[in-house]
Amino acid sequence: MAKSKSVSESLTTMTEMIFPNDTNTLGNLMGGNLMRMMDVVGAICAQKHSNRIVVTASVDNVSFKESIPLGSVVTLQAKVTRAFSSSMEVVIDVWAENIPAKERVSTNKAFFTFVAVDQSGRPIDVPQAVPETEDEIALYEGALRRRQLRLVLAGRMKAQDAVELKSIFE
Ligand SMILES: CC(C)(COP(=O)(O)OP(=O)(O)OC[C@H]1O[C@@H](n2cnc3c(N)ncnc32)[C@H](O)[C@@H]1OP(=O)(O)O)[C@@H](O)C(=O)NCCC(=O)NCCS
Repeated sequence: MAKSKSVSESLTTMTEMIFPNDTNTLGNLMGGNLMRMMDVVGAICAQKHSNRIVVTASVDNVSFKESIPLGSVVTLQAKVTRAFSSSMEVVIDVWAENIPAKERVSTNKAFFTFVAVDQSGRPIDVPQAVPETEDEIALYEGALRRRQLRLVLAGRMKAQDAVELKSIFE
């Protein structure tokens, strides 16, 4: 297996139009449908990085700051911020576009964690992700702190072992 891969190699973009079946009674995209799209684009990105089957291990806070009306064109972009042993943190950005009005707004951003697994569902090592741009480097540098925070919140790490979070817990 390759020891490392650039972040750009697995960059994944998905574009969808919002139809009546996707919406709530106000005619806006249902949050659950958006989360499904985010999960799919993130999983494709993590698969591309690892060339493995991946499972969703966790989803960090997802805020719905803007509603997305029927007829909008939604673009989701996923990129690996950092790979650990078997897990990959993937950031997903979402924009909604009203093409006739030439309007495009950023609507969501969330961090998902995917774990590469073998055919029996056991975690398996993945290549390291090499950041190249300024933005990728900043995301890479913050990833260890976010990982420790989510593992503490999931009850998988003791707060005193989360060295990146010392200033929060002390
Ligand atoms: C995710 C899963 C493979 C982890 O398996 P496990 O036996 O707990 O394995 P480990 O403890 O060795 O953890 C494996 C990796 O998962 C990460 N992980 C586990 N739980 C996590 C969580 N809640 N948040 C973030 N990462 C998590 C670990 O940090 C570890 O990462 P690393 O290898 O990069 O250090 C397992 O819990 C699973 O299969 N869950 C169900 C996944 C699923 O069905 N998703 C869809 C839900 S609808």
